[in-house]
Amino acid sequence: MKIKNKITKIRAFVLFSIALALVPVGGQPPNDGKEITIISVEKSAEFVATLYELELDCLFEWEGRIYALARPQDLEGLDRSAVPYFFETHKFPALKHPQLSVLSSINGEYHSYKEIEADLDSLQAAHPNLAKVYVIGRSLEKRNIYALKISDNVSLDEEEAEVFFLGCHHAREWISVEVPYLLGKFLLENYDTNAEVRRLVNQSEVWIVPLVNPDGLEYTIHYYRYWRKNRRLNADGSYGVDLNRNYGYLWGYDNKGSSPEPGSAVYRGTAAFSEPETRAVRDLFLQKNFRAMITYHSYSQVILYPWGYTETPSGKDSLLRQIASQMSALMQPVNGRLYEFGQASAKLYLTNGTTDDWTFGTAGIPSFTIELPPIDQLWGGFFNPEVDIQTIFRENLPAALYLIDWSIQNFGFSDSAAKRDAARLRFTHHLKMHSTEK
Ligand code: ARG
Ligand code: ZN
Repeated sequence: MKIKNKITKIRAFVLFSIALALVPVGGQPPNDGKEITIISVEKSAEFVATLYELELDCLFEWEGRIYALARPQDLEGLDRSAVPYFFETHKFPALKHPQLSVLSSINGEYHSYKEIEADLDSLQAAHPNLAKVYVIGRSLEKRNIYALKISDNVSLDEEEAEVFFLGCHHAREWISVEVPYLLGKFLLENYDTNAEVRRLVNQSEVWIVPLVNPDGLEYTIHYYRYWRKNRRLNADGSYGVDLNRNYGYLWGYDNKGSSPEPGSAVYRGTAAFSEPETRAVRDLFLQKNFRAMITYHSYSQVILYPWGYTETPSGKDSLLRQIASQMSALMQPVNGRLYEFGQASAKLYLTNGTTDDWTFGTAGIPSFTIELPPIDQLWGGFFNPEVDIQTIFRENLPAALYLIDWSIQNFGFSDSAAKRDAARLRFTHHLKMHSTEK
């Protein structure tokens, strides 16, 4: 009986985590100065499932234990479920937990804002003919939003297929900075020695924006690892707009795919493109003729394509499916990990105001969200160990190269130029782009 109970519970957890993978639970940090309680439980399927059921915000994993933020009612819930746990109290945000102080000082191999800035600069300095860094906008807290352009004759705007890669709309999804950054580094460092890389770089213009949400990222490093949104102070005193609900294609279509409540983790903002971070992406996009794009998120290990706002398939469903299936097939042999694929709304959940619905809705180009590993919370959720960065990058590389090649092969065809030109006209007064070169 006891065993049966346990199996049911684990099965419930698996179902639950499929349905809820990535739906942010809680996600609101306490106010500064407030006493908070951090609990920890041993990392096991059963205990992690309980944390999920109680909707605790998991902060980090350390030495085989999962740490989470707990409100008083959560402690009662934990007592009722008889999960053995430890707890400690702190004043937010001065968390003195040893692991948190490590995170805030170094964040290991992962990039902070300053580190991505410096590393993009180094790539430009080391490959002046192939790499150029642009500032495409500034965040609310006035950090630069950088784009790295990679092509032969990089200073010229040539008649070549432009391809777009984005990372870190969501602050806690650290791995989503690393994959597009490492893609850029790979293209540059292998240009001289690898003929295939040279061909792709020569015939395309690759644009990489590895850190769309720098304010959010810094907040996760220094204060609250589980933060998702940007750092907008909303009218009701809560913080943050979900940048992946703030884009302008059917923005606010319904309240299922995004929320009108400022405190919600999926708050869409007061208007489409109300946030400087999404405006920066929009303005770059409208100046270019991108043929395809990938925006990286985590976690779930899936490849998603539009629509997110409806379960009705788009008119280009078979093309999107075919490209996604190709990418998945190329990724699987690298480390043996299968990336499932499908329409975002059906495969994951309904969303509106996302980047890919907007790029697809505006320009009709193949647009993908890749949810990087792990597959679920039990395998680490938003926390990929540093040793997995290269592994995850390596398996994503062939998909990115494939999409660049696809864009080159299909450069001649664009049934959407007129549509994009119309959108561009509506926004021309916003268009500005500065080179970082002084
Ligand atoms: N993690 C992403 C989010 O919740 C997934 C979005 C999937 N939907 C889509 N249309 N791309 O924002
Ligand atoms: Zn995300």
